Amino acid sequence: MKAIVYTEYGSPDVLHLAEVAEPAPKDNEVLIRVHATPVNFGDLIARNIRSITPRKFNMPLLFWLATRLAFGFNKPKNPILGNEFAGVVAAVGVQVMRFKPHDAVFGYRGQNMGAYAEYVCMPESGMLALKPTQMTFEEAATVPYGALTALALLRKVNLRPGQKVLINGASGSIGAAAVQLARCYGAEVTGVCGTPGLDFVKALGADKVIDYSQEDFTHTGETYDVIFDILGKTSFEHGRKALKPDGCYLFVSFKMKQLLQMLWTKVAGGQKVICALASQKRMISPTSKG
Ligand SMILES: NC(=O)c1ccc[n+]([C@@H]2O[C@H](COP(=O)([O-])OP(=O)(O)OC[C@H]3O[C@@H](n4cnc5c(N)ncnc54)[C@H](OP(=O)(O)O)[C@@H]3O)[C@@H](O)[C@H]2O)c1
Repeated sequence: MKAIVYTEYGSPDVLHLAEVAEPAPKDNEVLIRVHATPVNFGDLIARNIRSITPRKFNMPLLFWLATRLAFGFNKPKNPILGNEFAGVVAAVGVQVMRFKPHDAVFGYRGQNMGAYAEYVCMPESGMLALKPTQMTFEEAATVPYGALTALALLRKVNLRPGQKVLINGASGSIGAAAVQLARCYGAEVTGVCGTPGLDFVKALGADKVIDYSQEDFTHTGETYDVIFDILGKTSFEHGRKALKPDGCYLFVSFKMKQLLQMLWTKVAGGQKVICALASQKRMISPTSKG
């Protein structure tokens, strides 16, 4: 099969088309012909991890080390990037019950990557689901990483109807999903992003949008129950002005400083800092088809 491979870290030029062996599904696996796979934040990190110093990395030093070892310290362990995809089931292993050939599916491979290829194998119990019929392959392929991450992270703050949430980084993969999910929870949503993303975030259902290049959200006079900072671009010291007295500052990207603030605010009461990681697991029963 054809795949886009890389054998060294670097700019997009390290990616090239190559002929590689087609994977064969094990008894519990599904072979999928990939129709669409996006480029997301994880792909950029994995392609370029060698030039991302611990300082530039959005997480503490140990996470940087773990990520670098997981992808390969000096050169990539897995030559094929791509962590999410949509496609059509080409074959199934003998034990597979939930999927059959010709099913349109979409899924998430996390750090296993491998979706920049004509075919991928996924365990039936992995993060794989039937593609909603009203979505194109391209649309469905962009959903899993952002939606699974945003859902797992929003669950950490127990969002309730009527609460006010500010999402900083609202036009990205996680933020775009968080805007929609927060609306589903019944929250009033303010999305912060750059000028090009404003209409997009509004169209996703945000009640208000703020352009970070024009306005500092702490200067609007609004206060929020939850501030969800995706890239870790703000600080608790500065942003807490816009947080209600019992509000929660959720960091998805954080350093040791924010971890210490989380410990301190847990003891001190009042405004809380939460540094959260999204676990990469299915969120519904493996017996369900959804
Ligand atoms: N905790 C976890 O479990 C977990 C899991 C996965 C990823 N992450 C973290 O999530 C981050 C990636 O998120 P993503 O995939 O959603 O990224 P993304 O798709 O690249 O989106 C980034 C978003 O941030 C916005 N942005 C850029 N600069 C900003 C600023 N100064 N102020 C406010 N918004 C700004 C961008 O808007 P413009 O394009 O308009 O500038 C865009 O909306 C990484 O830091 C990664 O480490 C954490």
